Amino acid sequence: MKVAVLGAAGGIGQALSLLLKTQLPVGSELALYDVAPVVPGVAVDLSHIPTSVKVTGYGKDDLSTALVGSDVVLIPAGVPRKPGMDRSDLFNINAGIVASLVEAIADNCPNACIGIITNPVNTTVAIAKKVLEKKGVYNKNKLFGVTTLDVIRAETFVAEIHGKNPSEVTVPVIGGHSGTTILPLLSQTGLSFTDEQIEQLTKRIQNAGTEVVEAKAGGGSATLSMGQAAARFCLSLVKALQGDNSVVEYTYVETDGADALFFAHPVRLGTNGVEEILSYGELSDYEASAKAAMLDGLKADIQLGLDFVK
Ligand SMILES: NC(=O)c1ccc[n+]([C@@H]2O[C@H](COP(=O)([O-])OP(=O)(O)OC[C@H]3O[C@@H](n4cnc5c(N)ncnc54)[C@H](O)[C@@H]3O)[C@@H](O)[C@H]2O)c1
Repeated sequence: MKVAVLGAAGGIGQALSLLLKTQLPVGSELALYDVAPVVPGVAVDLSHIPTSVKVTGYGKDDLSTALVGSDVVLIPAGVPRKPGMDRSDLFNINAGIVASLVEAIADNCPNACIGIITNPVNTTVAIAKKVLEKKGVYNKNKLFGVTTLDVIRAETFVAEIHGKNPSEVTVPVIGGHSGTTILPLLSQTGLSFTDEQIEQLTKRIQNAGTEVVEAKAGGGSATLSMGQAAARFCLSLVKALQGDNSVVEYTYVETDGADALFFAHPVRLGTNGVEEILSYGELSDYEASAKAAMLDGLKADIQLGLDFVK
């Protein structure tokens, strides 16, 4: 397996690359690309960790070489939020970055699975779809918005409240990846909550990114927890690409449009990327009305991305 990380010298990129260097299957290749001149150094640094994963670093003129032969490409390139910013405030800068990187993916590794981490994810994934379509290589089974951070946050916070080990807690999170479009399904955890707990937990999961942005006080957004989340998603995808078709992750993918064109669902992964988009099951009244209330906003975020490429 060859995995390329675009934006590998950044806060997420470095944390993610470290986890992949230590956890990708034996004999994998990890290609690190960034426009920041430090990226070859990040690759040399990681290469001293004794695993059989081969790490190479590529600077701004070597994007094609970084991409050729990749099975998975993860994109955390772009600017993060500062206090007071919404994810949509990043659109002006990050939309162009994602579009140009995805264009290069279309040219150099059109069959790769692409995981978009760059915000606003609700919109950047739609941009990627359009760029790939224009290049004639779009495969909806291979394009993912990485929303795993919402899932791991939800698991952590629910475990805290119930005094459980987070590894024993499963919390489905559907929808999109910003504000109220993030919809945790607490009714499906098998645990009981008061109405007040549901309200508070849902809000905390939706605003958890802002919690980090404010705590970092201008120093960026979530990088370490996001590195862990993206590594979990990538390792699941790699396992599936290698033939295990029992792997399920929640991720933002193109759907039949019943809710919105892109919507995070439980997805069974396999050798072709998305093997099957699974139903997210029955919602409680609280969840159903929260979903109804956020759909217009999510659709507008998606439309913004589709229109950007036109
Ligand atoms: N999906 C999620 O759940 C989630 C969570 C947290 C952050 N994010 C997003 O991830 C992105 C990165 O966050 P970060 O904290 O790592 O930021 P960062 O500033 O630490 O790193 C971004 C990196 O991208 C690089 N870069 C910029 N333009 C590039 C280009 N054209 N090609 C290659 N590399 C380029 C920069 O040089 C930098 O190294 C942000 O958009 C942030 O909002 C997403």
